[in-house]
Amino acid sequence: MLLVYSQQFQAAYRLLTFIVTISTVLLADSCGESECKMSGIAITGSGSAVPGTFLDNRGLSELVDTSDDWITTRTGISQRRLASSSESVTSIATTASVRALEMAQIEPNDLDLILLATSTPDDLFGSAVAIQAELGANNAVAFDLTAACSGFVFGLVTAAQYIRTGVFKNVLLIGADILSRWVDWQDRRTCILFGDGAGASVLQANECDRLLGFEIKSDGTLNNCLNLGYIPQSQELLEGVNISKGNFGNISMNGKEVYRFAVQRVPEVIDKALFSANLSVEQVDWLLLHQANQRILDAVAERLSIPSERVISNLANYGNTSAASIPIALDEAVRDGKIKLGDTIAASGFGAGLTWGAAIFQWGR
Ligand code: ACO
Repeated sequence: MLLVYSQQFQAAYRLLTFIVTISTVLLADSCGESECKMSGIAITGSGSAVPGTFLDNRGLSELVDTSDDWITTRTGISQRRLASSSESVTSIATTASVRALEMAQIEPNDLDLILLATSTPDDLFGSAVAIQAELGANNAVAFDLTAACSGFVFGLVTAAQYIRTGVFKNVLLIGADILSRWVDWQDRRTCILFGDGAGASVLQANECDRLLGFEIKSDGTLNNCLNLGYIPQSQELLEGVNISKGNFGNISMNGKEVYRFAVQRVPEVIDKALFSANLSVEQVDWLLLHQANQRILDAVAERLSIPSERVISNLANYGNTSAASIPIALDEAVRDGKIKLGDTIAASGFGAGLTWGAAIFQWGR
């Protein structure tokens, strides 16, 4: 009897000791983790690349009934870069990526994730993997993300989730587009706006979180304002078996609606992102908007009461490069010494979908 009690006591004691030991280990582990937790995000490198061919407004006016004066006054664009047949999204994105990796001082093999924001991949199945191969980033997983001109901001937010959850440490985020492939070069309402290019940023796990706030939005009911749709063409494979064997058309846009949408929604979304960052607009060093139209940049800055000297603008040289416009402008401003370590940037992308979003971040670690 006594022996049974003693055995039961010993078993209960062992169980108790086991539970205490396990909880001590778990607690110690979680404390240890929280002390050196790398769940913040820092943007540590940037790079950009544009195709070699220039097309200025004078050249465009030989193509369609327009003028340098009309384009400059209505959009602020003077010239754009266009990709030749020997250039591709993959080639310009790879060049931009190499520059971003150099600035961040990491090797392609250090990358865990390559995220390509594009609406114009070289391959409909995705072009991020081709960039992975070009870079030799053998340890990374690569995929595309499509959110038109909001792609870079949406990509930043997406990458941040992987970093914050501890899944990935080093992410290469690229925004690259060759919209000239999909522009109707006879349509003066759209062909004056767009250009080609690529920008890349390296995002790394960091003790201090430099992504201070964000907000991303979409409204598919406004899709018809700006799209690049598939045009189906019926083909009968066998009697009664029809498939659609078409192609993509050209960019179609209601310029006035897109303008109205941008001027209203962009200040709103920046305000929301600033609220989540617990910052006021006065604490923003740089307003970095998708480079669509100088009049949109001016109107948004005015609504937010941000003076023009704190607005980054390079669209005179490149036009609207879609997902590439924010990372190209960021890269130029960093390399020019305009944006300095620790500066607070309010970035906002907006475009087809319709999609729009804002991210408030500080440059550097
Ligand atoms: N050259 C000369 N005249 C022109 C041109 C041109 N390139 N384009 C249009 N016009 C004419 C029009 O035919 C019209 O003439 P009409 O009055 O005799 O009919 C007149 O100029 C005014 O045209 P609007 O379309 O009213 O010009 P608006 O002032 O709206 O400017 C623009 C057009 C520049 C496209 C403007 O609406 C805009 O920038 N909208 C935002 C577009 C944008 O940013 N899109 C990209 C979003 S990002 C993405 O996801 C890809």
